[in-house]
Formats: sequence, C-alpha cells, structure tokens
Amino acid sequence: MEHRKISRAVISRLPRYHRYLGDLLEEGVERISSNDLSKKMQVTASQIRQDLNNFGGFGQQGYGYNVKYLYTEIGKILGLDKTHNFIIIGAGNLGQALANYASFERSGFILKSLFDVNPRLEGMSIRGVQVRMMDELVDFLKNNDIEIAALTIPKSKAVEVADLLVENGIKAIWNFAHTDLTLPKDVVVESVHLSDSLMQLSYNITRKKELRKNK
Ligand code: NAI
Repeated sequence: MEHRKISRAVISRLPRYHRYLGDLLEEGVERISSNDLSKKMQVTASQIRQDLNNFGGFGQQGYGYNVKYLYTEIGKILGLDKTHNFIIIGAGNLGQALANYASFERSGFILKSLFDVNPRLEGMSIRGVQVRMMDELVDFLKNNDIEIAALTIPKSKAVEVADLLVENGIKAIWNFAHTDLTLPKDVVVESVHLSDSLMQLSYNITRKKELRKNK
C-alpha cells in the first residue's frame, strides 16, 4: 500500500482506531460501517472516512469496513506488525509501573532491561526483566538490538542520558522527563506528559460547571 504524507492529527487518531477495532475483533465483529464506528468512537462518520481515505479507504461504499483487514493495516501503518525491543532508564516509581504493564508486549514492545544508578535496585527483576546499573548500559546496547529507550529519570539528568543513548545507537526515545530534548534529526522523540491530560480534564470540568451555571 502506498502512503501519502499524513498529518500528525490523523496519526494521533490511529492508535484509537486500532484499539476500538481490536475490541470489535475480540467481540467477533467482522464488518462495521463508518456510521456504527462513529457512534462507538464518538467521532463523526465523515471524520472516520476522511482519516481512512488517507490510506486508500479500506472500505467499500455501502458495505462497511472489514474489521480484521482495517485493524491489520492500521497496525502496519503504526509499525505494530514488527516487534520493538525497548529499555527503561530509571527504575523508580514510573519506570517500574511501565515495566509492570504487560499490554505493551501484546502490541510487540518487548522490554529487555531497566537501568538505574541506585545500587539498591541492582539485581531486582520486574516481571522477569532485570534491573541493571547504568555502567552496564553501553555494553548492553552493543550486544542487544534495542530500538527504543524510555526515560523515566529526573529531568536534571534527562539531557545527558539522552545524549549517551543516542551516541550508542538509540534512535527512538519515549521521554517522560519534563524537559525538551534536542537530538539529531534521525532520532525520534515522543514526549508524554500525564499532567497535560489532567489539565485538559480540569479545563473540561471547569467548562461544564460554567455551562451549568449559565443554564
Ligand atoms: P523516582 O524518583 O521514583 O524514579 C527515578 C529513578 O531514576 C530513581 O530510581 C533514580 O535512582 C533513577 N535515576 C536518577 N538519575 C539517573 C540516571 N542518571 N540514570 C539512570 N537512572 C537514574 O521518580 P518517578 O516518580 O518514577 O519519576 C521519574 C521521572 O518521571 C521524573 O522526572 C518525573 O517528573 C517524571 N514523571 C513524568 C510523568 C509524565 O507524565 N511525563 C508522570 C510521572 C513522573
């Protein structure tokens, strides 16, 4: 399938399509119309059609979408048809929480190790995955095919650790530290800020309250 350049807004909606289609597959649904998918996802049917048209549509007029096909194709676009080895730098609260989340594996993200500087964590395992000390990192990267590093360390250390990772071949950083990383162009960075989502929730609560007051 040939892909045109796709906007970030569309890409940002694909994981959600993938998740909903995965649920439909589990329920044994084989076909779904854009209208039914729209009701389920609370996105307009025209938005769904427009989004999926970026990839050649996947659907036949009046016949709906083949759920399995659409799920597989969106998975391919998201790179979920391959496995991705990753490590976590910072085995504190957040690092351990991520390591405990088994669903990443179901999507093909395989956690190979965690790293930390705290000697008290040395030798500890989380779901069978070992915590190693940072002085083992460079050798570990040399000997293992690691694509992604998740950064769950204090922000004061994030820039220096990100540079070390990149110097040693890491091309993708999942950044949880609250700091911007300036890295070479061939390195992809995805920053996650749970507090942004919480602030969005706060905004929506505030707006709802105002609407109720003005009724
Ligand atoms: P934590 O203090 O429990 O864990 C941090 C771990 O990093 C510790 O085990 C520490 O020993 C280790 N560490 C420190 N310097 C290191 C280095 N140079 N190399 C390797 N490991 C090192 O903290 P927590 O709660 O797990 O948070 C971690 C980071 O994630 C913080 O920067 C925090 O602000 C951020 N955070 C971000 C969220 C987000 O939504 N983006 C949500 C929660 C936390």
